[in-house]
Amino acid sequence: MTRRKHGPSIPPTVPAAPRDDRATPPVMPSPAPPAAEATPAAMAGDGQPRRRFVVRLWSILGVAALGELAWVTGSFLRPRGRDAASSGLFVAGPADRFEPGSVTAFPTGHFYLVRLADGGFLALHRECTHLGCTVPWDATQRRFACPCHASAFDITGQVLNAPAPRPLDFYPVRVENGVVRVDTRQRRQRTAFDAASQVTVG
Ligand code: FES
Repeated sequence: MTRRKHGPSIPPTVPAAPRDDRATPPVMPSPAPPAAEATPAAMAGDGQPRRRFVVRLWSILGVAALGELAWVTGSFLRPRGRDAASSGLFVAGPADRFEPGSVTAFPTGHFYLVRLADGGFLALHRECTHLGCTVPWDATQRRFACPCHASAFDITGQVLNAPAPRPLDFYPVRVENGVVRVDTRQRRQRTAFDAASQVTVG
């Protein structure tokens, strides 16, 4: 009988797996979860920017409208400096267009053309001689009545009520070939009625 030698047991050699030198394949990101369904709340959230834009737009328009209103009101009542717009010979129109006893406003020229009862013309500057407010013509009371401090002037511009210190200023008037022209380059002051301020058409 054959006796088997005893010794340390050697495990059987396992052949090593061939090394894979290829690069590790990239890990693909997991797909994003599906987008949440549009709910009424989400839809309301989407409308917020548009609503904010509309509100902002209306705010801007409102401010612009208020600014324009303030400018128009202020330009009517504000005391004025020298008349920068009144430069040049202003053609008022044919003389027979203006009835005796009439007062015609020329806003762009900043004057009133008065045709007196005797047919003469007078161009009165529209600013009050107190602090320069625009003086409207009151056709009912037939006077210029200042809205700022209650000065009043008659149809020739003479002071009826203080605090205006002097009559309304005037511009030279010329009637040439039946056409009334006002020289708005020459604004003149006076302390009383000045016959030179009036032009009579024969
Ligand atoms: S500005 Fe006309 S009365 Fe004062």
